[in-house]
Amino acid sequence: MASLYNEKMATIYDAMYQTFVDYDEEYQFYNSLIQENNCKSILEIGSGTGNLAKRFQENKQDYKGLDYSKNMIAIAQQRNKNCLFIHGDMRDFNLDKPVDAILITGRSTSYLTSNDDINETFTCLINNINDEGIIIFDFIDANRFIPFVNENQKIIHEAKHEGVNYLRESNWETTSLDNFMLEWNAKYFTITLGDKELIANDFSTVRVFTLNEMQLFLYINNFEIIKTIDRKTYAYDTYVIVAKKKRL
Ligand SMILES: C[S@@+](CC[C@H](N)C(=O)[O-])C[C@H]1O[C@@H](n2cnc3c(N)ncnc32)[C@H](O)[C@@H]1O
Repeated sequence: MASLYNEKMATIYDAMYQTFVDYDEEYQFYNSLIQENNCKSILEIGSGTGNLAKRFQENKQDYKGLDYSKNMIAIAQQRNKNCLFIHGDMRDFNLDKPVDAILITGRSTSYLTSNDDINETFTCLINNINDEGIIIFDFIDANRFIPFVNENQKIIHEAKHEGVNYLRESNWETTSLDNFMLEWNAKYFTITLGDKELIANDFSTVRVFTLNEMQLFLYINNFEIIKTIDRKTYAYDTYVIVAKKKRL
């Protein structure tokens, strides 16, 4: 995970995802879940380049971000001068004070590739929320994703940001890896007057989950599910789960 989002990839990510993702809608979605559970203090894990942070800040909410990539944090901090972004790992972090809600956004759970990664993350979440606190996270649904990538060798996403046309070609290798893990090769291009120029070539190992296995991970980590939302997002079908600490 050490090379996650180098400086060039962080800049390309920031440009492309502002086309893919409607961050106003994304903010409304998460904020309504936060409000319906009466949460005040918020930690966003996988805060990326700070697009949701910007909306939480504009609405004067008690928000902080946490991300593993210093390059993503650098862009987030530039966008949100007065916001606290913690450089940390969701599998091993400790806040000064627990919060009411922890969000893991933008399918950042895909980077939790082993069962240990998931269990360690849920342990950290339970230790860093208040007794009445909640967690909200999304994940790519393996049952829909794996057939989709098997049927589509190359998946194309196009984006336009600040006058530049971008194109991403994704190739997913589904064979031979444990835990529904996949090797993701993404080639990023700019398109100028029909000419395609390769600007980055990114490899990551990611994991997709079935709803059943995620329910089981939550159960063994002493969480109780409050809500499960089947959500269409810009590229792949996801589930969003809201959960709280189980009363023991
Ligand atoms: C797909 S991006 C999502 C960013 C943002 N939530 C958005 O929707 O634009 C995934 C983010 O998760 C972060 N990340 C991956 N593994 C992490 C870990 N173990 N701990 C904290 N952040 C992690 C990456 O650095 C990246 O910023």
